[in-house]
Amino acid sequence: MNSWLYLCGMSEKFTNHMLGLQLPTDPRWVNIAQMNIEDILVDHAYCEQKAASSCISLIVQYPDKKDLVDMMTPVVAEEWSHFERVIEQLNKRGMKLGKQRKDEYVIRLQGILKKGGGREEQLVEKLLMNALIEARSCERFKMLHLHIEDGELKKFYYELMVSEAGHYKNFLSLAKSYMGEEYVSKRWKEFLVEEAKIIESLEVRGDRMH
Ligand SMILES: [Fe+2]
Ligand SMILES: [Fe+2]
Repeated sequence: MNSWLYLCGMSEKFTNHMLGLQLPTDPRWVNIAQMNIEDILVDHAYCEQKAASSCISLIVQYPDKKDLVDMMTPVVAEEWSHFERVIEQLNKRGMKLGKQRKDEYVIRLQGILKKGGGREEQLVEKLLMNALIEARSCERFKMLHLHIEDGELKKFYYELMVSEAGHYKNFLSLAKSYMGEEYVSKRWKEFLVEEAKIIESLEVRGDRMH
């Protein structure tokens, strides 16, 4: 986990290498995002809500997997605390949560998931999708931390970047414990290739975290 604390000092290229990401975010994104901070915070709040909900779903679907339950339970609390902290940032600025927006990125990622296969294979698909969202969020939080002018948000996004990097590692190591290193590494590479295609095809917009 400690090496992740140094993410900020790394070049974009090296950060993405560590996270596995094949395509860096378009640098224009952070500039547009900065001009739409209310939209970004609202979208971000729902990302945290979805992250917590996703971990709860995994616990409910796989209660027999003790390692998963033990690993995901504190992550639910952590993601929900991130949600609370985003709400706090909105409140401080006199902004409101507003309705959830269509999450094109996540909808498209769901299309990567393999249908069928065994129960553990299906679980690995879900864990890798979560790992991918954590990795991309981590990259975006780093961009916000480095480039945003608001000092409080700069610090906020640094803390969240470190936290999401830890989650990314959790999801990947959990996946490997079920289907083995070789299978997961191969499948992970396929996920990364598909994710890069999705990122490339999505419009760069300042009102979305992804
Ligand atoms: Fe989070
Ligand atoms: Fe997370």
